[in-house]
Amino acid sequence: MKPFLRALKGERQDVPPIWLMRQAGRYLPEYLATRKKAGSFLDLCYNSDLAIEVTLQPIRRFGFDAAILFSDILVVPHALGQNLWFEEGAGPKLTPLQSEADLDRLEPEPLLHKLSPIFETLKGLRRELPLDTALIGFAGAPWTVASYMVEGGSSRDFHVGKKWAYGNSQAFQKLIDLLVEATSRYLIAQVNAGAEALQLFDSWSGVWPEREFRRWCLEPAKAIVKKVKAVHPTVPIVLFPRGAGLLYQAVAEECGAEGLSLDTTVPLQWARETLQPQVTLQGNLDPVRLIIGGEQLDQAVDDILDGLGQGPMIFNLGHGIDKTTPPDHVTRLVERVRDRG
Ligand code: CP3
Repeated sequence: MKPFLRALKGERQDVPPIWLMRQAGRYLPEYLATRKKAGSFLDLCYNSDLAIEVTLQPIRRFGFDAAILFSDILVVPHALGQNLWFEEGAGPKLTPLQSEADLDRLEPEPLLHKLSPIFETLKGLRRELPLDTALIGFAGAPWTVASYMVEGGSSRDFHVGKKWAYGNSQAFQKLIDLLVEATSRYLIAQVNAGAEALQLFDSWSGVWPEREFRRWCLEPAKAIVKKVKAVHPTVPIVLFPRGAGLLYQAVAEECGAEGLSLDTTVPLQWARETLQPQVTLQGNLDPVRLIIGGEQLDQAVDDILDGLGQGPMIFNLGHGIDKTTPPDHVTRLVERVRDRG
């Protein structure tokens, strides 16, 4: 079995598998070249040949243990009929949903048809990946995706989404339920097309008090895991509830995922004692250390291997790789992880 999948079965390995969130992207000159050929970022996501190419680029260069489908979490709202575009330097932009009536204009029915190029990407990748490299499919978790849908893009304070959730929780629940359903269908279709594991990104789960964290992050994640496992009982799922803090424990105990991806702030000893008996841990190097490189990077890598290496783990960052990261530092990181084994 592939090392990445063995880790998610709960197996400890002398050399843990490694991949990096956002491992395909702008820090790689070969990505920038392919991106230029594609036109826009969204064109690249929907062009299977080019999406396969950029997914494979970091695998060729660094030999990671897993490849992650090249796409974006926002293709789901796009396929539900919401306007989406990426502005250079400004990130994603969407025509924001402003009322309950806007929810009724979303169209769940053509979702999988509209996302069909992504399934072609996965099928092609299964043909082209090295035998030991696992293929990860992914989606955004409902709250994180909903936040972009109602804010119309990235947000600093999430006030639009939080006001909606606190002020009209019934309507907000409708949006979250719609996303639970759409995301589950999308992930099931990704496994049908060849994804061997799934990651659910809840990048903004850290903004809620406990009760709302449970309602808008944990319960939807649980529902998605349940729906996916009803069709694909053995496919391993990794959840990334970034910023969940102490609530990582509730996620580990309740959500039914095999893996938890730790953000940079989670203390390793606490994670080892509290979370690792129940789930495989992935993480959690600060991406800024990878920009700087050198001995401080080696030291931080060793700390993570010492902290989590006695149990099932996957080496990764605590958030996505930064676009200013020198690729040589990634090479050094992979060597360090593998040489220590
Ligand atoms: O290599 C991989 O990890 C696979 C592809 C991937 C992308 N985005 C490609 C991408 C994945 C898994 C994502 C997830 C994603 N997208 C998240 C969750 C993880 C996280 O980072 O918190 C979020 C919140 C998004 C939404 C999104 N997409 C934003 C906010 C941005 C703009 C910020 C930025 O980095 O530019 C994007 C654009 C995006 N998604 C790029 C890439 C490679 C850059 C686009 C470009 O080429 O110009």
